Amino acid sequence: MPERAQVVKHGDVTQRVGVEVIRARGVDVDKLIKILIANAAAEFASTYYYYTILRMHLAGYEDYKEICEDARLEDRAHWELIVPRIYELGGELPNDLKAFHDQAGCVAAKLPDPPTVVNILTVLLESERCAIRSWSAVCDMTFGKDPRTYDMAARILNEEVEHEAWFIELLAHERDGKTIPSGHFRRGEPGHAPYSKNAQFYNP
Ligand SMILES: [Fe+2]
Ligand SMILES: [Fe+2]
Repeated sequence: MPERAQVVKHGDVTQRVGVEVIRARGVDVDKLIKILIANAAAEFASTYYYYTILRMHLAGYEDYKEICEDARLEDRAHWELIVPRIYELGGELPNDLKAFHDQAGCVAAKLPDPPTVVNILTVLLESERCAIRSWSAVCDMTFGKDPRTYDMAARILNEEVEHEAWFIELLAHERDGKTIPSGHFRRGEPGHAPYSKNAQFYNP
């Protein structure tokens, strides 16, 4: 077996073996960091916008509020989960919230006009769909090459896929009078985040 090329020198704290090994496997680390920052910005923005949509404009729909709140808190968990990975890879968050917001990988989930329940559910559904596409791209970039980022992205993706199913169910019911089950019952507690917090699944 040929000896593996070692880039990081003994005692060098300016380089990372954790980066060297994934780069050697073909990961474009700079591109990955950029995408992770964009995805983190989208999660951060979504927890803000979901807050406005949920708390202020779903009055009378307590069940929808609860489901939106789960999605909001799980997006916040996604933000918390992925940020340390950005720094481990040698990246950093922009030191300016506006700059950070402006590089989000998904459009802001702003309150629609008029803020009807159907319009709100549509914004939420499309926001989840953007998240699925964004995290799938990270899974594709890292599969078989960067197991740590892949594991985090796959955990997040699991929850985004569930979120899409929840909002399909609610929107189909509310807008079309149709039943399209998501398989959802309820989280154990608000923002349970079974995948991204490694919590127990609802499995009685
Ligand atoms: Fe998310
Ligand atoms: Fe989500």
